[in-house]
Amino acid sequence: MRFVKRVFLLACLSLGAVACGGGAVNAPMADPGASGGSPATPPPMAATDYFKTLPSHFPKPLVPADNPLTSAKVELGRRLFYDKKLSGNGTQSCSSCHLQAKAFSDGLKNSIGSTGAVHPRNSQSLTNIAYNASFNWGNPTLTEMEMQNLQPIINTDPVELGVNDGNRATVLAHFKSNADYARRFAEAFPNQADPVTQANIVKALASFNRTLLSYRAPFDRFEAGDGSALSEAAKRGLELFESDRLECTACHGGFNFSDSTRVSGAEQPVFHNTGLYNITNSDGSMNNYPPRNQGVFEITRSVGDKGRMRAPSLRNIALTAPYNHDGSVASLSELLDNYAHGGRLVSNPTQFGDGRSNVIKDGEIHGFSLTAAEKADLIAFLESLTDMAFTTDPALADPFAP
Ligand code: HEC
Ligand code: HEC
Repeated sequence: MRFVKRVFLLACLSLGAVACGGGAVNAPMADPGASGGSPATPPPMAATDYFKTLPSHFPKPLVPADNPLTSAKVELGRRLFYDKKLSGNGTQSCSSCHLQAKAFSDGLKNSIGSTGAVHPRNSQSLTNIAYNASFNWGNPTLTEMEMQNLQPIINTDPVELGVNDGNRATVLAHFKSNADYARRFAEAFPNQADPVTQANIVKALASFNRTLLSYRAPFDRFEAGDGSALSEAAKRGLELFESDRLECTACHGGFNFSDSTRVSGAEQPVFHNTGLYNITNSDGSMNNYPPRNQGVFEITRSVGDKGRMRAPSLRNIALTAPYNHDGSVASLSELLDNYAHGGRLVSNPTQFGDGRSNVIKDGEIHGFSLTAAEKADLIAFLESLTDMAFTTDPALADPFAP
């Protein structure tokens, strides 16, 4: 049996039947008060409705008990996600840096915030983030969607949406005075005297983000038994991806192609140094990544955490160039050269160093030989993870688009 499946089955066995059966692992789903909307409103959808089309090789995402998934919240969250009024100066929305056509990444090397601040990081795809054990490239403290979703709204370093104490009241006043929003907030958060709050905005955004589920790629049709869904090249690429020589599945295994995936709630986030940098600083410290991009080290200040990042899901990876945490790798071809080398050789003087000899690097990044034909096969496999139904799904699209 192939590794992609094996990882998931092992997870199922160790968690008992409920974890693989579906709804039982989810928190209570229906929001008891959510049916109190106007009579014209359709009955609220619960988590089971959003997750019922997932194929059998996908577990159901967890939903926290204090923020059950309802259609009122998801639809409100979708509007907020696409609305520039959610920024301090009215110029940016979440979707400015997370575009559906690019699997909710932005195509830039580094994202640029609403006040022009350059983000040290590359915008992440929001594909299947409902399964993330942690959020952002290398932050073990952001373990809930709600915790993450607040960050881009209020961040000051760098400024993203730039909501602060000086403009928050104005931002909220817009949503209060807009009749459509006022009704939607009241339906999403019934029995609250003043439902238009920053905390409720975050809950609605998180609800929408949990529905960004990608499971309709050619690879999924192949998993479901349609042998013709993958080209011969992609099938050879899959073999290589799972081979002992390449060991990609050591970190990108399972249905979501990431070892930092949460299915039962018990999983801890996992991080790796892949040898992208090996900079010796003027103070003599070694094995560094560039400033502000040192991964888990930024949080813990523990030397062994330098350069450690989460292995991202590889779903829709062909749509999310440039690659890696700082967008410093332009193409999948270049990325595979780095893995084949066993780390990246950086020759520019300010970041000079051979990542292959970074001592913090993970043992599974050991380098390998790869012919041009094999590289093409591997890329064909990665391209088979592109889910066009996801990038064109009207339920995930901009509700304000003409
Ligand atoms: C200025 C561009 C920008 C804006 C605006 C922005 N993001 Fe992001 N987003 C990023 C970048 C860059 C990262 C990676 C951050 C890091 O690792 O420090 C990210 C990461 C994320 C993640 C983590 C994904 C993962 O796989 O862990 C989520 C979730 C997310 N953003 C949601 C949102 C939401 C919701 C909004 C609106 C409230 C938003 N973003 C606004 C650029 C942006
Ligand atoms: C030791 C764990 C590990 C192994 C083995 C590994 N990866 Fe990764 N992968 C990661 C981590 C961690 C990142 C993010 C690193 C960063 O940006 O600093 C990453 C990033 C990537 C990215 C870029 C993702 C993005 O959104 O920019 C791709 C594509 C990728 N890996 C594919 C592969 C392939 C193909 C293989 C096998 C040749 C492989 N990986 C082997 C851990 C691993």
